[in-house]
Amino acid sequence: MLPFTCILFMCILASVSRATFNLSLPHQHPHPESVVLDVQWSLNASLSRRQTLSENTKDQCRTGNPIDDCWRCDPNWFNNRQRLADCSIGFARGTLGGKGGRIYTVTDSSDHDTVNPKPGTLRHAVIQDEPLWIVFSTNMVIKLKHELIFNSFKTIDGRGVNVHITGNGCLTLQYVSHIIIHNIHVHHCKPSGNTDIASSPTHVGRRGRSDGDGISIFGSQKIWVDHCSLSYCTDGLVDAVMGSTGITISNSYFAHHDEVMLLGHDDRYLPDSGMQVTIAFNVFGVGLVQRMPRCRRGYIHVVNNDFTSWQMYAIGGSGNPTINSQGNRYSAPGDPSAKEVGTGEQMGT
Ligand SMILES: *[C@@H]1O[C@H](CO)[C@@H](O)[C@H](O)[C@H]1NC(C)=O
Ligand SMILES: *[C@@H]1O[C@H](CO)[C@@H](O)[C@H](O)[C@H]1NC(C)=O
Repeated sequence: MLPFTCILFMCILASVSRATFNLSLPHQHPHPESVVLDVQWSLNASLSRRQTLSENTKDQCRTGNPIDDCWRCDPNWFNNRQRLADCSIGFARGTLGGKGGRIYTVTDSSDHDTVNPKPGTLRHAVIQDEPLWIVFSTNMVIKLKHELIFNSFKTIDGRGVNVHITGNGCLTLQYVSHIIIHNIHVHHCKPSGNTDIASSPTHVGRRGRSDGDGISIFGSQKIWVDHCSLSYCTDGLVDAVMGSTGITISNSYFAHHDEVMLLGHDDRYLPDSGMQVTIAFNVFGVGLVQRMPRCRRGYIHVVNNDFTSWQMYAIGGSGNPTINSQGNRYSAPGDPSAKEVGTGEQMGT
C-alpha cells in the first residue's frame, strides 16, 4: 500500500507542477543586471550635467539626482505634474500611476465611511476604476478609519502641500499595478479591520485584521514610492510580499521604527524569486532597528542610500536572495554586535 501511495502522490505532484508552476511574474524583468546598469547610467548622466552646468545655475534642478532633475528642471512643473510618471528609475521604471487620467483634487480630509466614501476624500479617489492623478487642495492630516485600499493606475502627488496619512491601515496595495506615491508623510499606522471596505466603486470586501504597515504591497506590481517620509508604524514601514515585483523605493526618509522593510514573507514562497526591487537614494535615519530591508529570494538593488544607524542590522537576507549593494554609506553603531556581517539564521525573522 505504501509504495503505491507514494507513487500516486508523486504523480499528482508532478502534474500539478507542470500545469501551474510558471514562476515568472508578469512584470519581472528578464535581465535584472541591465536595470542596474541603467540606474548607474542615469545617475552618471545627472551628475555630469550638474558638473558642466553648476557655474551659472542656482535653481533646484541639476541636483545630480536623476529622478528629481527629470521633473524639477521644468519651472512649470506645477502645471505639468504628470511628467513625474516619466521619471522613475530601477525596477519600477515605466510605472504609469494615473498618467493620462484626470486630476482628482482631494478637498476633504475625513474618512468616515469605508463602504461609500464621500466624493472629495482620498478614499473616494483611490478606489475609482479609471486612472487618476490625485492632488490635494491644501495641507491636510488624513486620519484613516481603516486600511486605504487602492485600485490600479493611481498617483498620489503631494507636491506643493504638506499631507500626512496616519491612523488605521494604512496604505494597502493588493493585487494592483501602476501606483505612484509621491511626497507624503505616512506615520503612526495601526492594525485594524474585521470590517467592510470598498476596493472599487462596485466591490466591497470583508477585510480581516491588518498588520499596521505604512505601505503594504501584496501581489502587486509596478509600484513607485518616492520622496515620502515613513515612521512609527506597528508593523513594516514598507512591506512587499506574495509575488510583488517591479518596485522602486526612492528618495524617502525612514525613522523611528523597528522592522523597517520586509521584502518576501516566507523562504518557501517560490514566486518571490521573481521579486525585483530597487532601493535608491533613501535616508535610513534615527531610531531604526532592523530590516533595511530584510530580503527573501528575489533581486534587490540597494544603491546610494545613507544608513545612519541601526540597532540590530541594516540589510538582511535568506532564501537565497541576490542583494546588489552599490555606493551606500553605512555608519555602524557603537554596539560591537551590530557591526557583524551575519547570516539569515542569526538575524531571526
Ligand atoms: C512563463 O511566463 C512568462 C512571462 O509571463 C512567459 O514569457 C513564459 O513563456 C512562461 N513560461 C512557460 C513555461 O509557460
Ligand atoms: C558611472 O560612473 C562611474 C564613475 O565614473 C563609472 O565607473 C561607471 O562605469 C559608470 N557607469 C555607467 C553605467 O556608465
